This record gives sequence, C-alpha cells and structure tokens, in this order.
Amino acid sequence: MNSTVLVTGGAGYIGSHVVVAVAESGDKPLILDNYSNSSPRAIERIAALAAQPIEAIELDIADIEGVKRLLHDRKIASVIHLAGLKSVAESVQDPQRYHRNNVEGTRRLLAALQATAIRDFVFSSSACVYAISDKQPLDEQAPLAPYNPYGENKLEIETLLTEAARKDPTWRIANLRYFNPVGAHPGGTIGEDPNGSPNNLMPYVCQVASGRREKLRIFGSDYPTRDGTGVRDYIHVMDLAAGHIAALEALQGVPKGTVLNVNLGTGRPCSVLELVETFERVNRLRIPREFAPRRAGDIAEYYADPTLAERKFGWKATRTMDDMCRDAWNWQRKNPDGYGR
Ligand code: WQD
Repeated sequence: MNSTVLVTGGAGYIGSHVVVAVAESGDKPLILDNYSNSSPRAIERIAALAAQPIEAIELDIADIEGVKRLLHDRKIASVIHLAGLKSVAESVQDPQRYHRNNVEGTRRLLAALQATAIRDFVFSSSACVYAISDKQPLDEQAPLAPYNPYGENKLEIETLLTEAARKDPTWRIANLRYFNPVGAHPGGTIGEDPNGSPNNLMPYVCQVASGRREKLRIFGSDYPTRDGTGVRDYIHVMDLAAGHIAALEALQGVPKGTVLNVNLGTGRPCSVLELVETFERVNRLRIPREFAPRRAGDIAEYYADPTLAERKFGWKATRTMDDMCRDAWNWQRKNPDGYGR
C-alpha cells in the first residue's frame, strides 16, 4: 500500500506492537505520543524491529492546532487511535481526568481530522463496553453498559465516532473491542512497562517471577467458574496488532459511512489458575501465590465470540496461552526495569 498511517499512542504497550505491524505491512507509521505513560526509548526498539527509521512526534491529541499543523502537508491515509489513559482503578478515582483525556482528547483529534481529507479510522475500544452478563461468549450484539468510568469513556468515544460517520458519511470506522491483551513481541525488545505496582494479572505474575514482587494474590477463589477463579479471554498482543492491520485493510473495501464494532479476542476462556500454571510450566519456574478476597468491581467470567472479526477482517488470533506466557516472561526477563525511567 505504501501510505502513511498515523498511530496515536504509538509508543505505548499496544501501540508499539501496532507500529511494528504497520511497518511490516508495507505502510509508513507516524507516531504521535505525549509520553504520559510511555517511553521515548520504545521508539528506537520499534525502529530496530521494523528495520527502518520511525518518526515520532511528541504531541497531545488534545492540541488541535498542533495536530492540524502535523497533518498539514503530510499524505496521511488513515489513523489508528490508541492514545488514552487506561487504568480502570485510576478512572474510578478521577473520572473527570479520564473524561477530559480520553473523550475530550478524541473529540479534539476528530476536530483536527475534520479539517483534512483523512477519513479511515481505527479505534482501540474495549470489552469493558459490554454489560455484565451470564450469557457468554459476548458477541457484538450483547447489551452495552460499562461499569466503570474507563469503560464509559470507551463507549462514549465509539458513540462519538458513530455520530461523526452519520453526519459525514465519508468516514469509515472500526471500533476494536479488545479483550485482555498480554504478552510481548517474541524478540523481547518491546513489551508492557507498567507504572508502579501492576494492576493486571500477567505483568504482576511476571514481576513475581523476576523477584520484584513477593507473591501473587489471586483475587477470589469462589467464583462460579470451573476452578473458582476469574475467567478471561487473554489475547497475544502480536495477534491484537495484526488485527489492526486487518481492520485497516478491510476498511478499504467497505462503503463510505460504515462503522464496524468488532471484538478482538480468542474465544478461548482461561482462568487465573490456568494462566499461572501455564506460566510455570512454559517458563519452568514457580509463582508463589495465595488466595485473597475478590477484587472490588471484578466479574466472574467474560470472553469473546471472535467470529465477526474473521468474517469482516479475515483475521483470527493464532497464538496460544503458552505463547503469551513465554513471550511475556521473555520481555520481563530481558528488561527487568522495563524501558528504564
Ligand atoms: C484478570 C483476572 C483478576 C491481578 C482489565 C480492564 C480491561 C483491560 C484489561 C485495558 C481477574 C485476577 C488480577 C492480580 C488476580 N484494560 N487478578 N491477581 O480486570 O479482566 O481487565 O484489564 O486497558 O478493560 O478492565 O484484567 O488482568 O486486571 O485481571 O487474581 O494481582 O486476574 O481478579 O480475574 P481485567 P486483570
């Protein structure tokens, strides 16, 4: 294709993998990132993997004039929008900040784009938009009712994008609803670098494995699941990144005005205990652990029906839990302090 793809949040965990995938697809990625929760050091790692120089602009998506200046004179064909704050816990503590950054930030990004001819847009949404439900797996028709401000932000942005396409039917939009992204590039040079103590399971397990945390606390042993621990749909970040490329390519073939809401998951449920045991087996080490009370706001079980992604994008996840645990640990082992601060 050989066109330029703007990747907002391209220095972050998912963004860095998406940028490599864009470069490998033959397009030219242009990163826009304010480094509020990412490191400029990721850029050189990305460039090494992509085997080409990678341009990265330090800029906030909310800076309309700055973004307009950036877009001016550049032949950008499409946007993959991943910039945003992503901690569910933080969003509960400071919902205004989350709304301002995520929703207002996206509104401003769209305002800047409106002044250009760029109309193909892929958004990093979340399975958080779905209502809590006993009916699993979740397909895209499942009821929507986010249960935390972070999820509300994601749904509000999906709605914003759908409205934009209704008012100006030259947009083509894919809202990608991620399940639980984990793992890292198999080379171990880019990966997840959480700030402080990780909230999410896989990075926490990795830090226990490296000796940085004493033991894993498994939140809840009495859920109505097969072994009593919480069940999720973990998806390898490499599969997730490939899903963005497939979505972007699929948008080229749909009528203008189309908005696609699509799950990116594996459809294979995995419990906390299963993840921990897989991690131990694959990496040949022990994860000290104890059971602890349920974490507030957690749900027992959710996982994706991923068939729409296959139908619309010709994409499906191919990596296994073994791959996810091996690659997550490989990154952690080689980068015990992440990118370093
Ligand atoms: C998974 C399971 C925990 C930590 C969140 C967001 C979602 C997405 C991914 C996006 C649960 C258990 C965890 C620990 C544990 N975020 N657990 N001990 O809550 O499904 O989803 O992250 O940016 O939108 O909601 O993911 O990894 O936190 O938890 O036992 O130390 O692991 O209770 O069952 P979650 P998670």
